[in-house]
Amino acid sequence: METMRALFFLLTTLTIFMSVSTTTSLSPIQNLLNCFYHYSQSFNSSDIIYGPKNPSFSTILNMKIHNKRFKTATSPKALAIITPKDDSHVQTTIKCAKINNFQLRIRSGGHDYEGFSYLSDVPYVIIDLLHLNSVEVNLQDETTWVEAGATLGKIYYTISKKNNSLAFPSGVCFSLGAGGHFSGGGYGNLMRKFGLSIDNIIDAKIVDVNGNILDRKSMGEDLFWAIRGGGGASFGVILSWKLKLVQVTPQVTVFNVKRNMDEGATDVVYKWQLVAPKLHKDIFIRAQHNVVTISGKKIVQVSFIGQFLGTIERLLPLINESFPELGLKKNDCSSMPWINSTFFWYDIPIGTPLEALLDEPKDPKPIYIKGQSDYVKKPIPKKDIESIWKLMVEGETLSMQWNPYGGRMEEILPSETPFPHRAGNLFLIQYINSWIEESPGAIEHRVNFSRLFHEFMTPYVSNSPREAFLNYRDADVGANHPSNATKIDVARTYGSKYFKENFERLVSVKTKVDPENFFRYEQSIPSRLSKTHI
Ligand SMILES: Cc1cc2nc3c(=O)[nH]c(=O)nc-3n(C[C@H](O)[C@H](O)[C@H](O)COP(=O)(O)OP(=O)(O)OC[C@H]3O[C@@H](n4cnc5c(N)ncnc54)[C@H](O)[C@@H]3O)c2cc1C
Ligand SMILES: *[C@@H]1O[C@H](CO)[C@@H](O)[C@H](O)[C@H]1NC(C)=O
Ligand SMILES: *[C@@H]1O[C@H](CO)[C@@H](O)[C@H](O)[C@H]1NC(C)=O
Ligand SMILES: *[C@@H]1O[C@H](CO)[C@@H](O)[C@H](O)[C@H]1NC(C)=O
Ligand SMILES: *[C@@H]1O[C@H](CO)[C@@H](O)[C@H](O)[C@H]1NC(C)=O
Ligand SMILES: *[C@@H]1O[C@H](CO)[C@@H](O)[C@H](O)[C@H]1NC(C)=O
Ligand SMILES: *[C@@H]1O[C@H](CO)[C@@H](O)[C@H](O)[C@H]1NC(C)=O
Repeated sequence: METMRALFFLLTTLTIFMSVSTTTSLSPIQNLLNCFYHYSQSFNSSDIIYGPKNPSFSTILNMKIHNKRFKTATSPKALAIITPKDDSHVQTTIKCAKINNFQLRIRSGGHDYEGFSYLSDVPYVIIDLLHLNSVEVNLQDETTWVEAGATLGKIYYTISKKNNSLAFPSGVCFSLGAGGHFSGGGYGNLMRKFGLSIDNIIDAKIVDVNGNILDRKSMGEDLFWAIRGGGGASFGVILSWKLKLVQVTPQVTVFNVKRNMDEGATDVVYKWQLVAPKLHKDIFIRAQHNVVTISGKKIVQVSFIGQFLGTIERLLPLINESFPELGLKKNDCSSMPWINSTFFWYDIPIGTPLEALLDEPKDPKPIYIKGQSDYVKKPIPKKDIESIWKLMVEGETLSMQWNPYGGRMEEILPSETPFPHRAGNLFLIQYINSWIEESPGAIEHRVNFSRLFHEFMTPYVSNSPREAFLNYRDADVGANHPSNATKIDVARTYGSKYFKENFERLVSVKTKVDPENFFRYEQSIPSRLSKTHI
């Protein structure tokens, strides 16, 4: 019996060897196709594997490139894009990428600020999960299984169709993908009440380096911990997540109050730092800083964009008591079901049919973006707020989102998930530098400004380490190049900023589940055993 099995094993290995590995003189796409045919009985290559000569290659590629910085003539191109139609295609992709020694780039929504889901500086294939996008709501236990390629818009829409009082705490932009957004943490305006997306995820399915499909039970608590905030792409391809839905009030109240630099905004922003992280959990007020032109003059305008889980009548006295400087009035506020308020946050007119949540961006706005993040632990003095604004005006294109922490965020231990930025933070700053000009050198010039601004912020933000939020991916906090060589000391640089003391546990999980470091990219978690280390 044992001999038979050994013989069978030998024969199979030989067949694989002959049909797969000896084809190196063929083009990479031929190798990939051969390998796919070998492993997958039923599959139609013409709508799953796109080689660069396929007329649909660039359509598929560009569909989820939202940042024009990575859509240039010199941007690296994949050997192929694979768009699985079912889970077995994901399993086959991993096996075939491994055999052919291609790096794998995993893409769900494609919003990665550094393009790590579709770019690499070594030969690579993209696995794009756009077809794996189902959303299934279970009203009995108030849970939802979502596939990695589902967008936040589709998730919000499908949940609300079943019951308007159920929601899920995650981001503002409808086209973010469940695969990347949740594995990096995921937060939005329900954060102070319910925490991050990962704090409300109760199961997941992942394809590991051996091509096996694992759920929470079979992957074990260590891996399940790691993929909720540690970034999925270091550990495998996430197929789906199980979300525990949260209950929201039938009506929520939203407002957007704007204050300009030259009309007392400094005092309001200063006070915001003291109160916004301490307000009742039901209140979330973001301070969005933009450079605007008023009467021909460039100034900073701060929009206090707020949400309250309750009625206008209950909100007004709460704000009047704790944050009178805001001067919030009844007619600044509107009430609506939570699902309609997602339009408000995304700057879509209220009253737009809810089906707009399902729209894929038809022609993703052609803008260039550089994103960064910081954590603030003590209030920034007034005079320094003003010098920060002065520099913003000089740069013209950089905006800042200040997102208050506190509430539920403070109750969760930093070790509970890989995301370590919990108690002790007043707020998270997201810097977004976005521009449209095409002139030569514009990219370098604007990115330089982002770096200068980040440097300027040093005295006001966290240090040792200077923390950063994984979902606001920033290659400047440390990155490996070429992306197939993981240097441990480089990994420690970005790892300590994104994960603080959780980094070592992430490395232990990685070493256990992917010792050879197959799943790697510029900012992946290293394995202690891999020969790909330098
Ligand atoms: C306009 C905009 C608004 C944003 N708003 C918010 C916000 O409100 N809150 C917030 O938290 N973040 C926000 N972000 C950041 C966003 O959460 C991250 O960019 C996130 O990584 C996007 O996920 P994605 O699936 O769209 O991206 P992708 O580019 O597809 O993936 C991002 C990363 O995850 C990996 N990955 C993707 N899918 C999988 C998978 N199935 N398995 C394993 N790994 C995978 C990729 O390889 C890559 O490393 C915003 C970003 C943008 C551009
Ligand atoms: C394969 O897919 C293509 C494109 O979707 C389609 O035109 C063709 O009919 C399919 N072939 C088979 C055998 O299903
Ligand atoms: C919707 O969900 C809320 C919150 O769980 C619940 O109280 C309500 O009964 C549900 N409504 C329907 C119609 O199922
Ligand atoms: C706000 O509070 C002050 C006292 O703290 C009170 O005099 C005033 O009437 C309140 N205004 C509103 C609109 O509630
Ligand atoms: C919320 O959206 C629904 C569906 O489009 C619409 O019927 C309703 O009028 C909207 N409510 C508000 C307050 O905009
Ligand atoms: C950007 O910064 C680098 C390094 O400081 C500098 O050499 C370069 O000239 C700058 N480029 C532009 C366009 O400002
Ligand atoms: C990285 O990829 C390059 C290009 O394919 C190759 O030459 C190099 O050996 C690879 N390095 C590692 C560590 O795998």
